[in-house]
Amino acid sequence: MSVDNKTSVLFVCLGNICRSPMAQGIFTHLVYEHNRQDAFYIDSAGTGSWHIGHPPDKRAQQVCTKNGVNISKLQARKIHKMDLFHYDYVLAMDERNMRDIKRYYADTPEQANKVSLILNYYYDEPIKNVPDPYYGAHDGFEYVFDILYKSCVNLLETLDKK
Ligand code: 4NP
Repeated sequence: MSVDNKTSVLFVCLGNICRSPMAQGIFTHLVYEHNRQDAFYIDSAGTGSWHIGHPPDKRAQQVCTKNGVNISKLQARKIHKMDLFHYDYVLAMDERNMRDIKRYYADTPEQANKVSLILNYYYDEPIKNVPDPYYGAHDGFEYVFDILYKSCVNLLETLDKK
């Protein structure tokens, strides 16, 4: 669907405290920068429930703040089946994530077709999975920000052409 004729985009990862809120924040930032906020409805969710209600990881917040993106007000939530009904694009952070979303949340082939990998929009190198930075060092977050930023630029350009 489209909420109020908007194109709706849901970013999904495992915990919804690192990768998908960063993607949500970056994409929202770019949409505002291009004055396209009336055209998009944007959210994020996780397939896991450990962090429901939590703000994004401090390290994710820091790298976003450093780059002018504010994600401090976001709160983690779990994906639910209605998301696959409502959203036009469901963008998973890695292949396992994508498989889980299709297997447990999509009821129809049409819904499963809405799910794809965010790194399909990353053209610099042929990688499919955004590495989970949660257990790693801070430079993992810098790298994740970089590839998500580039992917979101290409995503916006692609969706704006439709
Ligand atoms: P995310 O990272 O999926 O990018 O939000 C994770 C955050 C927390 C956990 C796993 C991944 N966790 O197991 O708590």
